[in-house]
Amino acid sequence: MSYPKVTVVGAGQVGATAAFLLAIRQVADVVLVDVAEGLPQGKALDMMHSRSVLQFGPRVSGTNDYADTAGSDLVVVTAGLPRKPGMTRDDLLSANAGIVRSVIPQVVSASPDAIVICVTNPLDIMTYLALKESGLPKERIFGMGGVLDSARFAYFIAKALNVPIDSVEALACGAHGDAMVPLPRHSMVAGTVLADTLPADEVEALVERTVFGGAEVVAFLKTGSAFYAPAASVVSMVEAVLGNTGATVPSCVYLDGEYGVSDLYMSVPATLGRDGVMAIPELELDDADLRRMQASAATIAEALDSMGLRG
Ligand code: APR
Repeated sequence: MSYPKVTVVGAGQVGATAAFLLAIRQVADVVLVDVAEGLPQGKALDMMHSRSVLQFGPRVSGTNDYADTAGSDLVVVTAGLPRKPGMTRDDLLSANAGIVRSVIPQVVSASPDAIVICVTNPLDIMTYLALKESGLPKERIFGMGGVLDSARFAYFIAKALNVPIDSVEALACGAHGDAMVPLPRHSMVAGTVLADTLPADEVEALVERTVFGGAEVVAFLKTGSAFYAPAASVVSMVEAVLGNTGATVPSCVYLDGEYGVSDLYMSVPATLGRDGVMAIPELELDDADLRRMQASAATIAEALDSMGLRG
C-alpha cells in the first residue's frame, strides 16, 4: 500500500504529535525535518517502534536535510518558538518570522507542487509571510487556526451544557489570537443555535474562555504551548486535503474581498480539497458579527503594515 507523502517541518511538540497522528490514522508517510540534529531522527524511530503494537502502515522518517522531503504532496510548517506564560502569540513575531523566511524557500524548492499548511504563530501574520516567501498561489498555502479555536469553543460549550461533544457544532473565526471571533449565532447544540440556548452572559463567558483557551494551557505547562489539540486540528485539515473531501472547515485563508476584508489571512470557513482552498463560502453574518470580523481583520492588517509586508 502506498501513501501520500507529508513533510512536517519542526519535530517539536506540535510537529511530532501531528506526525504520529498522521501515521496511526493511516493518512500519509511522514518526513519530519528539523534544524536540531538527531531530534527528528530519534522521534521518527521511536514512532516506528510502535508500528507492530499499533499496526499502522505508513512510515515516519526524520531528517535535517530538505532533499529527503522532495516531492511531498503536503507540507505542514510548525517550525518556530512556542509561547511561554505571559507571552501573547504576537510576542513570537520577529523570531518566528526569521524561521519562516528560512524554511519556506527550502520547502517550496523541494516540493514545488505541495499544499502548505502553516501552524507557526502568530499564525495570521506568519501565513501571509509564508505566502510572500513561497510565490505559491494563495489557494495552496493556508493556516491552521480556526479549526482549533472552534474545537476549543465546542469543548467549553459541551462541558457547560453537559452534552455529548458530537452534539455541538461550534464556530470560531477571525484572528488566531486575542482578537478571535467565536460566533455563538453560528454555533449549534443539538440543532439549536447556541445564542438561543443559554443566557447572553453565559454565552459571553464561553466566548471569553475560548479566546484565552490557548493561554490557559500555556499557564499550566509553563515551558511551552498547547500541542495535542493543535496537532489534531492539523490532521483534520490534512485529511480534508489529501482525501479531497470538500469539507468546509474554518481555515486561515487569504481573503480577497470576502466579508469586506482584503489582502490578509484570517480564519473563516473554507472548502478544502486536493487543490487546497477550493472555495470560501461566505457566512450570512448580521451587522454586529460582521463588525466583529472586520475589527479582528483590522488588528491583523495593522500588524502586517507595521512589518511593512503589504503594499
Ligand atoms: N527549521 C526547522 N525547524 C526549526 C527551525 C528551522 N529553521 N527553527 C526551529 N525549529 C524547530 C525547533 O528545533 C523545534 O524542534 O521547531 C520546533 C518547534 O517545536 P517546539 O519548540 O516544541 O514548539 P511547538 O509547541 O511544536 O510549537 C511550534 O507552532 O503552535 C505553534 O506557537 C507555536 O509557533 C509555535 C509552533
